[in-house]
This record gives sequence, structure tokens and C-alpha cells, in this order.
Amino acid sequence: MAPTDDNNNIHMLQDIDRAHHLHPFTDPQALKTAPPFVVESAEGCMIQGQGMSLLDAMAGLGCVNIGYGRTEMAQTAAKAMEELSFYHSFAAITHPAAAKLADKLAALAPGNLNKVFFANSGSEANETALKLIQYYWLRKGKPNKTIILSRDFSYHGSTLATSALNGLTAMHEPFGIKTKGHVEHVMSPFWYRFGGDMTEEAFAEHAAKAIEDKILEIGPGRIAAFVGEPIQGTLGAIMPPKGYWPKVAEICRKYDVLLLVDEVVTGMGRTGNWFAQETYGFEADLMSLAKGLSSGYQPISALMLSDSFAEVVEAESAVLQHGFTTSGHPVAAAVALKNIEILERENLIGRIKSEIGPYFKQALETLLDHPLVGEVRVEGLIAAVELTKNKVTREQYPYEWGVCQHVANAALMQRLIVRPAGNVLVMCPPFTISSSEIDQLVNGLSSALDQTYAALQNV
Ligand SMILES: Cc1ncc(COP(=O)(O)O)c(C=O)c1O
Repeated sequence: MAPTDDNNNIHMLQDIDRAHHLHPFTDPQALKTAPPFVVESAEGCMIQGQGMSLLDAMAGLGCVNIGYGRTEMAQTAAKAMEELSFYHSFAAITHPAAAKLADKLAALAPGNLNKVFFANSGSEANETALKLIQYYWLRKGKPNKTIILSRDFSYHGSTLATSALNGLTAMHEPFGIKTKGHVEHVMSPFWYRFGGDMTEEAFAEHAAKAIEDKILEIGPGRIAAFVGEPIQGTLGAIMPPKGYWPKVAEICRKYDVLLLVDEVVTGMGRTGNWFAQETYGFEADLMSLAKGLSSGYQPISALMLSDSFAEVVEAESAVLQHGFTTSGHPVAAAVALKNIEILERENLIGRIKSEIGPYFKQALETLLDHPLVGEVRVEGLIAAVELTKNKVTREQYPYEWGVCQHVANAALMQRLIVRPAGNVLVMCPPFTISSSEIDQLVNGLSSALDQTYAALQNV
């Protein structure tokens, strides 16, 4: 029997869930008054739950790139599980799927990123990067290079070490995480909020210079690496101003600072190229991948190392004292390979560049006329609709007013899932989204904005 065949079953599930399930990124007190929403199935861009069908413009959490519910993926997982349900990759052991996936990723990745370490989540890939960066500098005989530069508005994970990278103090304070001496934050290249009268190019220069200034202030001899998402997805789909990334890469090279690019969201096609490094014209020393690697069908992530970085890690004989039981899991690796095959066979990334990406951009930009909308940012199939109180001064609504949450809730009533982040509505739909689904999204969003604007007139 399906778990939610009747209402009693839904209530039963909600009750046992509330009693025993501690949810990530959820206020447990709020769960006491409002039960969890039970999602039961999904297909294409639609998720179903509690008798409703919703258009998921977030692809889960920006991961279900090939769309939900593909039979081919289920068959691949079943076959992989029958053949080799598990074996590890410690102590010089491999299996066909892990070897082929590493080879495929090396072929796809830009620059000299040719070596892959497998993990299970974006956080683990970034955590691995942090450890290997320390390892690298110790092996290079530069033990003082320990400080990581990160940025405001960044999100890199929720382990102890990756939380410290995040530009969100709400992720530090409740856990007593101290960043001082380990991580230094510099400004986000958030042109709309901080650009003032500067041109995009001038702002790119300004934001890149903030990194150089910080390196000089602390001393290049103490800076191990700079970490950044090509587009700062989680905290507002913040797009880099033109020229920013090549400048950042140049600064890192100049001061012998490693560049770790977090392509957990942007990697595997979201910007219309396999990797956002191609979109923005730069190359990193390390790259983390997760979400789109398997389109969320299995937990798997990867950290890719450049040849020169890998050379140092592999130079002297010593066991690498790092790894996870399920690193390179045979089922997850087989599923990731099938995901890549589908992306290639259906030309889903090419479609973003030539067809559906431009349609998405043009459709969302019609919202610019709305009195609540200050900016619309779109790159491939990731987008931000930035709300403002005043289109000229770009004044922000106080976060505690929950204006953006109000719009997202109103959108939910129209059966649309978008993600509120501060005063920004973030969207990153499956690559399979159709033009009519985009129309449905933009029409629904437009009336959600109308409802919120009308409500604000009574404040
Ligand atoms: C850019 C980026 N890096 C890392 C992570 C962490 O990934 P995970 O949640 O799989 O640990 C996320 C998750 O949203 C992310 O957006």
C-alpha cells in the first residue's frame, strides 16, 4: 500500500516524523505547530505530495538536472546493485564504474583537472579539499600557509570546517565555530547590492582587489587558498561581474595562493557549459562537484585536482590518510555515469545555451517591470529575482519583514516551488524544463509578486 493512500496515513507519517526526525535547516519549534510536507513521488519537473502536484523550479536543491523519475536511472542502479552492491576503494582497490567515472570526469573537466577523489556530498568534497590544501603546503615546505580566503554570501557546506568557510554567521555562532586565524572573508562581488555607481567592469576590479588587499594585509606567506562558487547560488544566485573570475585567478597565481572553485551547483552543465570555469574564462587548481554529478539520484561528490597539485600529493610514498567508506561507491558511480550519458545523448547542456536558457532569461526579465523587482539575474538555468523597496536607491526590505518568504509562499499557492534567500528569489530548474513550464513559472511568480505588493500597501 502506498504510504499516503488516505489522510490518516499522511497524519500518521507526519506524527512519526515529528516525533523522531531531526530535520536539516529546519526550526524544530516551527515543526511543532506546522507539520512537515510529505513528498511522495516526482516526475520530470513536477513533484507530488499530499494530493498536490507542484512545479519544482528548484530541481530539489539545485541537483535534479536531468529531471525526476527516469526509469533508465532506476534500471542502472538496480543492475549495478546486483553486480556489485558494495566494495570500497581503499588500499589500491577499484571497480569498473569508479574507474570509468574518474576517466570521464578527467576528459570533461577544464584545464589540467585530471585526478578525482570521490566522496558523498558537496561538504565532503570541500572538506577533502581543505585537508589536501594543508597537505599540499606542508609537503611544499610552507607550513605557514594555512589561512583560507572565502567570501561573504558564500555557501560551501555544513561540516565543521566547511561551515567556517560560509559567509553566513548564522552558521557559525550557534555552533561556536570560530573562523579567526583559519578563514578570512572578503566581499562578495554582489554588484546590485554593493556596486553603487560603478560600472560592471569597475566593480569586478574593485571586488577582485579586495582579495588582493586581504592577501597583502595578512601576507601571502600565510594564505593557503581562495575558495569561491562561480555563482554564489545558495545566498542569492549572485552572478560575478564581467571579468571578475579571470582577475581572481590572476591574483591567486601572482601570490602563490591555490584556487579552489566550488562547482557543486554550477558544475555538470547548469550555466550552459559543463563547468562555469568555461563560462567565465578561468582555471582552478581544485574543483568540487556534487549535486548534478548524479542529478541527485545517488549521493556522490568529487574533488578534482590539477596535474601540478596532484603531483605534489602523489610525489612521495605515504598512505593518504583520508577517505570515506563509500568513496566511489559502485552504485553511485554507475548512476553518475548514466547521468552523464543522458546529458550528452539528449544534448541537455547545449539546449541550455541555445534554446531554453535564452527563453528562461527573456521570460524572467518580463518581471523587471514589476514594482517589487529590482534586478533579474540569469545565467543558463540559474536565476535570481532580486526584490527591492526602491528601484532607484536599491533599498532593501528589512529581512525580518519576510517579504521574499511571502512571495515564495504565494508562489506555493500557485503550485510553484522557488527558493527565498534574503530578498532574492532563487530558481534553478531541471534542464528538461519546457517553455510552457517556464511560462507557468513566470505567470505564477508574477501573480505571487502582485499579491505581496498588494499586502505591502496595507503595512
Ligand atoms: C556551492 C555549494 N557547495 C557546497 C554545498 C554543500 O553540499 P552538500 O549539501 O551536498 O554537502 C552546497 C549545497 O548546497 C553548495 O551549494
